Parts: sequence; C-alpha cells; structure tokens
Amino acid sequence: MSRRSARPPSGRRPGGRRPGGRQPGGRTRRFVATCPQGLEPVLATELEGLGLGPCTPRRGAVAFRGPLSAGYRACLWSRVASRVLVQLGEGPAQDSDALYRTVRGIPWRPHLGPDHTLAVDFVGGNAALRHTGFGARRTKDAICDQLRAATGRRPSIDLEHPDIRVHVHVAGEHCTVSLDLAGDPLHRRSAGVEGGRAPLKETLAAALLLLADWPAAAAAGRALVDPMCGSGSFLREGLAMAVGLPPGLPRRRWGFDRWRAHDRALWEGLVAEARATPRRPPPPVFGYDRDPGALETACAGLAGLGLGEAVRLLRVPLALAEPPTEQPGFVITNPPYGARLGSVADAEAVMALLGDVLRRRFLGWRAFVLTGSPRLARRLGLRPARRIPVWNGRIECRFLDVPISSRPVERDRPDAGPVG
Ligand SMILES: C[S@@+](CC[C@H](N)C(=O)[O-])C[C@H]1O[C@@H](n2cnc3c(N)ncnc32)[C@H](O)[C@@H]1O
Repeated sequence: MSRRSARPPSGRRPGGRRPGGRQPGGRTRRFVATCPQGLEPVLATELEGLGLGPCTPRRGAVAFRGPLSAGYRACLWSRVASRVLVQLGEGPAQDSDALYRTVRGIPWRPHLGPDHTLAVDFVGGNAALRHTGFGARRTKDAICDQLRAATGRRPSIDLEHPDIRVHVHVAGEHCTVSLDLAGDPLHRRSAGVEGGRAPLKETLAAALLLLADWPAAAAAGRALVDPMCGSGSFLREGLAMAVGLPPGLPRRRWGFDRWRAHDRALWEGLVAEARATPRRPPPPVFGYDRDPGALETACAGLAGLGLGEAVRLLRVPLALAEPPTEQPGFVITNPPYGARLGSVADAEAVMALLGDVLRRRFLGWRAFVLTGSPRLARRLGLRPARRIPVWNGRIECRFLDVPISSRPVERDRPDAGPVG
C-alpha cells in the first residue's frame, strides 16, 4: 500500500510532532482508532502516513499518541478508522465494583456537566463482567454519581445521539475509559449517502482500495470500474481518495462538539486547512449495475460529495460489461454472496459470469473481488495472486487480487451461461 495514499495532498503533517515547538492541541494524549479485525495493518499504515505514528496495531484497533490535534486529524483524514477514541483514564476492573471505582476516580467535570446527555459503549469483559449492558450501567452510574455529588444534578442518557459517548474497554482485570471523538461511526461520512441493498461500509471500501494500492493506479491515470456498483461505495471512496477529498469534511456532527475540552479553534484550523488543500484531477471512474434503484442511490451519493461529474454510471448487466478505456485499469467489485441478497446458486452463477467477462474482455486489467466464501471464490475460475481475509460485518470474506492475462482466452468456459 502506498503511503502517499493516506497523506493529505499538501504533504504537511500538522497532526505529527513538531520538533522543538509547542504541539498544537497541548499535552500528549493516548488515542485508539478502531477498525474491523484484519485491517489493523492498513489502518496503521494510513495513520502513519498522516504523520500520526508511531502506531501500534492491536486487535481491531491501532494505538497512537500525540496532542489533541492528532486525534482531530485522524477524525478528519482517516478513511479506514471506524472510531477515534481519546483515553481519559484506566485502572483495575476485575469486577463491577473495581470498574465503578476506576471510573468514579476519573475527574469528569472537565469533560461534561449535568446538562449534557451521555451514552456508554462497553466492549470486552472478563469472568465477573460478562454482560456489556451491566458494565455500561456501572460506568454510567459512576459518572452520574460523581457529577451529582459535585453539582446536585446528573446527566441524562441518550443512547442514539448523546452529547458525550464514553467508551470502556475491559481486557483481563484492566479497563481503559475513553471519549469517542467520532460520535457516530466514521463510515457515516455524511447524511444522505446511505442506502442501497447490502451496501459496503465506506471504511471497508476504503481499506480494500488501499490494500489494492488504488491510489498509485489513480495517480497513473488508470480507470476504475465497478461492474456491480450497487450504491457505489467503491466509486465514492475511490474517487475521494484519488482527488484527495478528506473523508471527514462533509460530516456535520462529531463526538467532541459538546465536549468541554474541545478546542474549537484548533479543530476549525484543521478543517480550514483540509478545505484549502488542493485537489488532484479525478481519474476515469465507471459504475455499472443492472438495478436502476442502486444506480440512483449511487448517483445521489456521488452528487452529495460534489463528485457526480467525475463518474459515469450506466445501467449495464454484467454479461454486457466492457472495458471503458483502452488502457488497462482497475476492476473492483463486491458481487452478491447469496447471504443478504438472492440465493447462493445465483451468487455462484454471477461469480462464474464475472470470471468469464474478466478473462474474455478485460485483458491486462487488474481485478479485485470481495467474495463471501471460498466456494464462491473458486467459481470465479481465475487464479488470484493474493487472497486476503477480511470481515464484512459478521461475514468472513476473501479479498481476491486477480491479475488478468493480456492474452485472449482460447476456449470459453462451458459452465458460464448469461446471468442478469
Ligand atoms: C452486494 S451488492 C454491491 C454493493 C455495493 N458494493 C455497495 O456498496 O452498495 C451487489 C450488486 O450487484 C448487482 N448485480 C448482481 N447481479 C448482477 C448482474 N448480473 N449484472 C449487473 N449487476 C448485478 C446488484 O444489483 C447489486 O447492486
């Protein structure tokens, strides 16, 4: 994966350390960016490319340190992180009373008051803290009891859109307590871009594009085609990455908006810098699908990012898909798995057809296919150079890197009839 992919186009790294100078955002803090399991190295490389290293991959997360600006920068620029957490405290949590004492020992008034709304996310656990709901309740009690003792009032709970989202992670007999800087998970890039049937999360689409080294291909002017684009996650992320659009720029709501320690001037400076960063010219990007509703959703999502002009969306069944450029480019796609949409037999037929279309027509192209099972992967009938395990929600998938020969195939496969 190319480091260039993650670095803001200006090449400056304001989230990183400034030798000898005062760090923007003050004292050094501990951050954790979360991601689906298996994508930790991609996220670590991305964050280091943003100047936020050194990064330490953990299970489903990457840890890094820096001033507050480092956390803000991760929120604004990371395409792969699901959440960005800033640690507020840590301590013993061998049982619920120990957890309560640790949380109550953290000074909460610098972070929130009784007029804030609060939610607690609890992950991990141990023999005495097996139920995440119970752990979350004890955490909430500790915070509310401390604030009531100090002010006579306590914050109320809002599980959907809290002012402050506290994240507790228990591993063994230890807990870390953090503030969720993102609030809503970061794959929700902006309101109105959701929809489609079985859409891929933006953060996963971005991670796969980085694994495929798409930024280098985009910089070389190669085309990107998703022949089953659905709501267009690969198109949006591929284009945003290629032109250098910061993924956090369209978001209107953050987990730090009402945080008492939020440094508004620092954040606004980083946003202004991100806005002013020059964009690169867009490479040719094409999305095909047989479903007009999916194409409408893709169109709306691209328009919402101001990228509508840069993509050609066409209603084309896979059986008729053709390379849109003479120069070989990049195919990246997420065919149906037969899990959420349609049957497994349909999904297998689509994979066989995809293999045939690629072998016969996309000569010399490079294809990347996210597939839901080894059996489906075999139906492609093409030999992958890499098979990378990744999780799409609860489905363990394989991301196949398939170089396609530039020589025409001599014989047609007998088992691939037209589908779609
Ligand atoms: C799993 S969805 C893709 C989701 C997409 N990655 C997204 O983020 O929304 C699979 C897509 O393949 C399309 N599709 C399935 N069979 C097809 C065919 N034979 N020709 C064209 N499109 C097809 C479906 O309409 C659907 O939009």
